[in-house]
Amino acid sequence: MESAKLWLRDNCNAERLQHVVKSTRVKRLLTVKAVPYVLLALAAVALLVKFVQDKRKRPRTWLSGRPPSPDPEKPTDVTTYAEKRMKATDRTPGTWTPSDFKRPAAAPYPEWSVTDTRPLPYRPFRHGPYHITMGLRSMQWDEWIELDNHYMRFHEDKKRRIKARGSKCCLTNPDPRVWDGAVELLEELSAYLSERYPSMFKKTEVGVDNVVTNESFDVKELTMNGVKEDPMQLCARLTQDDLAIMFEKEDGQYYLLAGAILLAGFWRLEDKYGMPLSEIHTSGDVPGYKQKLEKGMMNFMRRVKPDGAVIRNNYFMQVDDDLAWSSSIGSEDAEDGIGWFTAEKDRAIKHHYFRSERQSLRRLPRSGGVVFTIRTYFHPVTEIAEEPYVPGRLASAVRSWGEDVAKYKGRERYGDVLLEFLDRKHEEQVAGGLDVSHEEGVRTYPY
Ligand SMILES: *[C@@H]1O[C@H](CO)[C@@H](O)[C@H](O)[C@H]1NC(C)=O
Repeated sequence: MESAKLWLRDNCNAERLQHVVKSTRVKRLLTVKAVPYVLLALAAVALLVKFVQDKRKRPRTWLSGRPPSPDPEKPTDVTTYAEKRMKATDRTPGTWTPSDFKRPAAAPYPEWSVTDTRPLPYRPFRHGPYHITMGLRSMQWDEWIELDNHYMRFHEDKKRRIKARGSKCCLTNPDPRVWDGAVELLEELSAYLSERYPSMFKKTEVGVDNVVTNESFDVKELTMNGVKEDPMQLCARLTQDDLAIMFEKEDGQYYLLAGAILLAGFWRLEDKYGMPLSEIHTSGDVPGYKQKLEKGMMNFMRRVKPDGAVIRNNYFMQVDDDLAWSSSIGSEDAEDGIGWFTAEKDRAIKHHYFRSERQSLRRLPRSGGVVFTIRTYFHPVTEIAEEPYVPGRLASAVRSWGEDVAKYKGRERYGDVLLEFLDRKHEEQVAGGLDVSHEEGVRTYPY
């Protein structure tokens, strides 16, 4: 807007206009013949102003500075601009026209090291009352995938599980559109990771090498160290995240058609594979889904654009130390009967683990698939309770869960032990001088 105003000021101030009008050439132009040209010029100015306004409505890309803003004079960018303005309803459900959006190149993570960079301390819970929301925030492109010094542990866990049950945990529907989406994700990860974590990933002629684990990925041949694999499984080996891609079908619903779910703790890809989003949530008894989440989530899925990635965080408690599969809710191979009711009640606090997820969502520009990345952070409760403010706030959050949320999160099994412990820790912190009135200034969501 500012630039348009400046342009108008520089070119349309009264003095200048007077001066121009005085010149005889312009006088001749101001005849009836000139009207169409004047209208055309006005239309061009109006378009320019609208364009600048639109750009300002998207502060994410505008403020981050890196992604070059579209230049309205270049034909390719005019196409992109038109696409960006396209309403989701203009698209026939189940179809996608490849977008020419390119993810802005990622800056290297400052001083990242596979041995020294600690996991980000996500503590995504608030003092009550608890609200059921999607809780989406805009994502900076640099932060698409987060890696840290838990990488080797996650990587080993994934490797072991791929060997034991890869064909159940990593699945790609052979439909060409889905397959292409999985390959597109592999290409995106290879490019992004070598930009963001150059001490670990090196771009090669055929794909990417992980120089720490000595794995070489060929994106065209779909191989790792020469062995051909499911494309989602290859993606899984690169990140600490679990990955899933949803595709829109003719009914406008989004279906889980490609996934690599190896460390999810509480759910199995084979149970959800091929399901639409709403069924995934209702079959998982996600509290408040129908009433509070379904409509917003459907709208979001249909409208999310390649340039508009988002993130969200959530958290759970777990009463065993298995990152990959929380065995206290039952065997991973059980036909049915998994759930909190099987968990041992009142386990000692040393068995309580805080499990939080950082999820990102973006639409792949070529295939139109919507990618979820699900990164789990996993810590003993006794560890995070040493952090200032955390025990008090977590206790307040756990107490504020409604009945449905409490049931979903299994509170009845561990709540007494957990709250007794958190309250004691909080009291210790207050006795030690913790200034509870300053919490907001010290820790802000999601930390
Ligand atoms: C990778 O290869 C290097 C050099 O051959 C070796 O020192 C290192 O131990 C290997 N790393 C792993 C994880 O196998």
